[in-house]
Amino acid sequence: MSLASQNPSSLDLAYRVQSEAVAARFTKLHTRPVILQAEHLSCEFDSERGRVTALRDINVSIHRRELMCVIGPSGCGKSTFARVIAGLQPVSAGRILVDGQPVNGPGPDRGMVFQGYTLFPWLTLTQNVRFGLDMQGRSDGPADREARQWLDLVGLGKFHDSYPHQLSGGMKQRVAIARALAAGPKILLMDEPFGALDPSTRAQMQAHLLEIWRNVDITIVFITHDMDEAILLADRILVLKANPGEVQEFIEVPVPRPRRLDQFATPEFQAMRKHLDSLIHPAPSAGAPDHAPLPFIRLTQAGDDVE
Ligand SMILES: Nc1ncnc2c1ncn2[C@@H]1O[C@H](COP(=O)(O)OP(=O)(O)OP(=O)(O)O)[C@@H](O)[C@H]1O
Ligand SMILES: [Mg+2]
Repeated sequence: MSLASQNPSSLDLAYRVQSEAVAARFTKLHTRPVILQAEHLSCEFDSERGRVTALRDINVSIHRRELMCVIGPSGCGKSTFARVIAGLQPVSAGRILVDGQPVNGPGPDRGMVFQGYTLFPWLTLTQNVRFGLDMQGRSDGPADREARQWLDLVGLGKFHDSYPHQLSGGMKQRVAIARALAAGPKILLMDEPFGALDPSTRAQMQAHLLEIWRNVDITIVFITHDMDEAILLADRILVLKANPGEVQEFIEVPVPRPRRLDQFATPEFQAMRKHLDSLIHPAPSAGAPDHAPLPFIRLTQAGDDVE
């Protein structure tokens, strides 16, 4: 969809303006086969607080080699969505299709990388990456060579004999990505994978992920609550809202590729950021407090005020 010719008068619609190159990329993207579909997907939980609708009537189609980010406030159902796609969470209604086939449980066509470090501490990096290959019954020599190639791809070939405790957080997540990719999935699900990293490692990992995505035939569903991360990475951003978890908007990111960190200051990036901010942090209505009051417990000496 190109709105470039419509010249929106309102600045709030500036995020919908696409350069010719960006519009052409989206036209090409939409000609790729649909690899992942959510059809009328709903997911409810019973808890002590009553029934929670984590997801309600989600309908989205994602194309092969698309990089989609999912963003929204805490509790809007992002992780539930990833777990449903992974086949780890039963649905209340609707279904997920991968390559046209309904998902009924976990399968090798979907790999997952979580925020926490999930490597096996007693295995070397090669053995960790081999794990997915071993599950497929592959023999030692070729499996080792392939595991080394995946470690090379994430820039950790030199560390093949190291153990996870010898690595930094960013390096561990790179191994987790290599391990997920080694099993040959069609879809890589990433639930806030860089959320625990410091800002500079996080920026390196974002650049790294884009490089991997360019070189591997993989479709990525990337969950984040960081707006800049979503804009930097995504073709399209699925914005969810909470209670119930519903689609608020599915947005084409107007920032051209290849993406670089210095695009943060560009008008396209800023327009997109402003729009996301308005969706995720709507202005409080006049007179309403901007946060819920906290219960007051005084743990200091009377008179020892800091403000
Ligand atoms: N197993 C469960 N049992 C009961 N309620 C659940 C369960 N899993 C998730 N929920 C509820 O479903 C809603 C969505 O949870 P989910 O973890 O998907 O949110 P999220 O968007 O990933 O949040 P965050 O940004 O904090 O990670 C929340 O209200 C949560 O309390
Ligand atoms: Mg979550």
